[in-house]
Amino acid sequence: MHPLLNTAVKAARRAGSIMNRASLDIERIQVARKDQNDFVTEVDKACERAIIEVLSQAYPDHGFLGEESGLTKGDKPLSCMPDNVWIIDPIDGTTNFIHGMPVYCTSIGLMQKGVITQAVIYDPSRDELFMASKGKGAFLNDRRLRVTKQDRLDEALIGTGFPFKYMDLLDTYVSMFKQLSGRVAGLRRPGAAALDLAYVAAGRYDGFFEMGLMPWDAAAGSLLVTEAGGFVGDFQGGPDFLFSENIIAATPKVFAQMVAMLSPYKLPEPKAAGAFRPEGV
Ligand code: IPD
Ligand code: CA
Ligand code: CA
Repeated sequence: MHPLLNTAVKAARRAGSIMNRASLDIERIQVARKDQNDFVTEVDKACERAIIEVLSQAYPDHGFLGEESGLTKGDKPLSCMPDNVWIIDPIDGTTNFIHGMPVYCTSIGLMQKGVITQAVIYDPSRDELFMASKGKGAFLNDRRLRVTKQDRLDEALIGTGFPFKYMDLLDTYVSMFKQLSGRVAGLRRPGAAALDLAYVAAGRYDGFFEMGLMPWDAAAGSLLVTEAGGFVGDFQGGPDFLFSENIIAATPKVFAQMVAMLSPYKLPEPKAAGAFRPEGV
């Protein structure tokens, strides 16, 4: 295993044990509201601190983009993305976590000069560790992953997420949902985008789409999908899926059919993710 990936796995497992311990007594978890339908717990923050501690001990020159602490390096805020930056969602699926619904994970991706090169997604409820290094394939625990061979949208199982934070996206989303639901085998919304992407890589879904995602939701999952032989892009099928706040991930043939269906929709400019776009990307 690549040493960078090995360290990320250690960090993800550390976060996993914090989540597992906290999940034994969810009544005691303090929940704060960041925004409408956007919650954070002290567990999210403890997980992020633990992940950054493990990674910064091994790589003191690297930067961090964490959902809870923003863009930092050595405890100081940064104004632009450095060449090596770990993109972290300490708990993806916080709303599930707070409700004791066991669909959440930690997601850690390393971006080097604008390219995601290492990825770990860890689901502590199932002890499932999804990993990828660029050019070396994607794995679930020790099993190599491949996307499904599905080439027909009408037979595809598709994951998605509702734009529950950005209500102005809802009408557009509902139109997409209506159009797609008549044309696919099934649509699912479990509530953790990083896991959704890992599941495309693992062949549990044939495709996934969502609007309003941030780089920490998608960074690690995108590498898992491409290393498992799938395609990832924005709704136009282009490469701007980390900072445009819209993403499609699927088997190659299903991806093309989803792009054909979703690209005509007019989308607003990204609200928050654009601020993290590295120079030249
Ligand atoms: C959320 C989850 C959810 C997705 C949201 C994300 P969080 O992440 O991934 O599935 O629909 O867009 O913000 O807030 O639980 O880390
Ligand atoms: Ca998230
Ligand atoms: Ca989160």
